[in-house]
Amino acid sequence: MSVYLDYAATSPLRPEVLDCYVEYLKTLGNPSSVHTAGQLVRRALEEAREELAKSVDCNRNEVIFTSGGTESNNLAIKGLFWQQRTLDPAKKIIISAGTEHHAVIDPIEWLEKHDAADIVWVPVDYDGNVDLNWLEVFLSSKGSEVALISLMWANNETGVITDIKKVTELADKYSIPVHSDAIAAFGHIETSFKDSGLAAMSISAHKVGGPIGVGALIVSRATKLVSLVHGGGQERGMRSGTMNAPGAKAFALAATNTIAELKAETQRLQELRDKLVEEVSKVTAVAKLTGQKAPRMPHNAHFVFEGCSGDSLLFLLDQQGIEVSTGSACQAGVNGPSHVLVAMGRSAAEAYGCLRVTLGTDSSEEDITAFISALPKAVEGALKAGIPQTGDSK
Ligand SMILES: Cc1ncc(COP(=O)(O)O)c(C=O)c1O
Repeated sequence: MSVYLDYAATSPLRPEVLDCYVEYLKTLGNPSSVHTAGQLVRRALEEAREELAKSVDCNRNEVIFTSGGTESNNLAIKGLFWQQRTLDPAKKIIISAGTEHHAVIDPIEWLEKHDAADIVWVPVDYDGNVDLNWLEVFLSSKGSEVALISLMWANNETGVITDIKKVTELADKYSIPVHSDAIAAFGHIETSFKDSGLAAMSISAHKVGGPIGVGALIVSRATKLVSLVHGGGQERGMRSGTMNAPGAKAFALAATNTIAELKAETQRLQELRDKLVEEVSKVTAVAKLTGQKAPRMPHNAHFVFEGCSGDSLLFLLDQQGIEVSTGSACQAGVNGPSHVLVAMGRSAAEAYGCLRVTLGTDSSEEDITAFISALPKAVEGALKAGIPQTGDSK
């Protein structure tokens, strides 16, 4: 039996969510049809919207269902940029950070390459903290030229949390809309949309025990976006396409149950995580915990293993039945240093040596014990293999 410690990549479908998903997959009807079958599916979809809104702490009309986190981020970034530019063509700057997920970085860079965007990356320190003092100073001179700010609520690799409320307070002085990729944060820490001051917030079902391929962009009622997808005008005209009612139902249930357990799970997982960190330090001297001077998510432990390649560690742990990650699963198979660690000013050797362990609903003490027993052999092998990509085999 393998031990799954990669909840940040994706989480198991909750059993009750699987039942709900299957039940609605069997239900015939297009939610836009006017006949009874269609209207029954429409009712289920609207119930899901209302239920998800409660978990997110927003108004039901603010929930736009999408095909997942990547689409939500693209819609927010491109849609906000184009909307802002129609109001004021002088607004060209997009502010973000190099530690963001590629589903944020890539649409921003696309807008620079194919449109008029100027990108400004906020500096990030050694521990992964986004420099909000720098942001304040930058806005005081260039605030009127900024089209939008996109900063993630919590980092999917390091688990480091950003004070999103502080970001929106700074941006508010210049009426700059702020988007946050909350895909890693939602369901693990408090993420009230109403209190955040955000214009838009991305979430994804498969990170909270829901199905892959379902997500939402929460868009405040005051915010307008240019749509990326044109067609039937569904989802308040922001996301055309026949709505995925089974996916929406499953997402809403997964979110409700995850949020209901948030407090208890935070404590349980934090205790397990802290134990894991302590045990790692006992069995190896080469592991350095990331983000020690930053607020971090309770279920995440991210390490840099000096002199090791994270890919070797991952492979050697997998051989012993332990499933962890070097960072973002979307980058898996791409052999290279973590762009997140590079953006934190770390050396190439450090950025190659990452290992992320993330816990969730089924994680137990036995899983931690299994990880700790497998680690020394994996570290020994990884140290022997060194870091060929950088020529650094120390
Ligand atoms: C922070 C973050 N943003 C975006 C995504 C992409 O979400 P999805 O897989 O739903 O497209 C992920 C998933 O790994 C993520 O962790």
